[in-house]
Amino acid sequence: MKVFLVAGARPNFMKIAPIYRASLAVTGVDCRIVHTGQHYDYEMSEAFFDDLEIPQPQYFLDAGSGSHAVQTAKIMLAFEKICEKEKPDLVMVVGDVNSTLACSIVAKKLLIKVAHVEAGLRSFDLTMPEEINRMVTDAISDCFFVTEESGRLNLLREGKPEESIHFIGNVMIDNLLHQLEKIKNVQGSMFRVQGLKVKGPYAFLTLHRPSNVDDKKTFTGIAEALNTIAKDLIILFPVHPRTKKMIEQFKIRFSENIKLMPPLGFKESLYLWKDAKVVLTDSGGLQEETTALKIPCVTIRENTERPITVELGTNVLAGTTKKGILKAYQQCFAKVKTASIPPLWDGKAAERIMKVLQSIK
Ligand code: UD1
Repeated sequence: MKVFLVAGARPNFMKIAPIYRASLAVTGVDCRIVHTGQHYDYEMSEAFFDDLEIPQPQYFLDAGSGSHAVQTAKIMLAFEKICEKEKPDLVMVVGDVNSTLACSIVAKKLLIKVAHVEAGLRSFDLTMPEEINRMVTDAISDCFFVTEESGRLNLLREGKPEESIHFIGNVMIDNLLHQLEKIKNVQGSMFRVQGLKVKGPYAFLTLHRPSNVDDKKTFTGIAEALNTIAKDLIILFPVHPRTKKMIEQFKIRFSENIKLMPPLGFKESLYLWKDAKVVLTDSGGLQEETTALKIPCVTIRENTERPITVELGTNVLAGTTKKGILKAYQQCFAKVKTASIPPLWDGKAAERIMKVLQSIK
């Protein structure tokens, strides 16, 4: 079976790494990596290939940035060409970025089977571009790999046949556990950020959702909450390119206890957040990863498509107001005591995916 494994943006790379690795250990599954080029800066893309031990992509589509329509269209045009030429048996897409949407549509229209990894997640918030990507991808996929029970239930509710849904666990956690093992053997001095870690308790922050950073009032309120938390704790803040642009545009002021830095590679980032007292984030992946390592997590969003992280895990949903964020910050430490790790988040999700692929005729 010739499989195109599609990745385009930063969070995709963490998901394809374990899938690609697992494909090497089985017979009958020939995975080829397609990088759409949605993310392209060294630290948003190539650094992850190096860090996560992903080989160079067989196909690079060079789509780049643009409006959603422009970016999606560019990916579709380029992906159609390689699908027509190479005729894969299956296109596997991961997550919920524009590359996920673009490549699933192209494949399906060429009558190529589509498998979606991390299927069925729903925030029910259609103002999020990712929610639209998730819904459309799931509407046309043939095979669904889900990370949590809510995904299975959402897909059943949407009329998907039970036998097409496979609860296999979480490839993001496969990658996390693999990388955690790797950094055990790496000297701290290998990391550019090593010096930041030794100065006592700290928080780790990521922020990049358009709904949080593209709106001046919302971003200002979030910054005020962070500046208050920074009176307690140093906050380490690797800044996403979108966020950097908006900080400059809105002239957002951060306390000097908030240490801004360029985007980090996966290992460097893990090296910092795994020992953080708390993670403050609006990322999807970090909500899951903090749950897996039982680190307190404050999610700066109104909703989450990953409810298991709140139900079982360490995640506290804060909303985006100053008051909500400070309240969640107070609550998050107690939650860790009762938190548990969701079923099948055990580092073996990609192996289970391979078993399913081997059974597809
Ligand atoms: C995308 C995903 C989002 C994911 C995020 C992780 C969609 C709809 N959004 O959002 O789900 O959580 O990636 O990072 O697919 N830029 C650079 N260098 C790069 C890439 C982007 O400077 O390598 C800048 C560009 O100016 C671009 C902006 O960042 O306009 C936003 O990039 P884009 O890929 O459009 O969306 P993200 O906000 O990164």
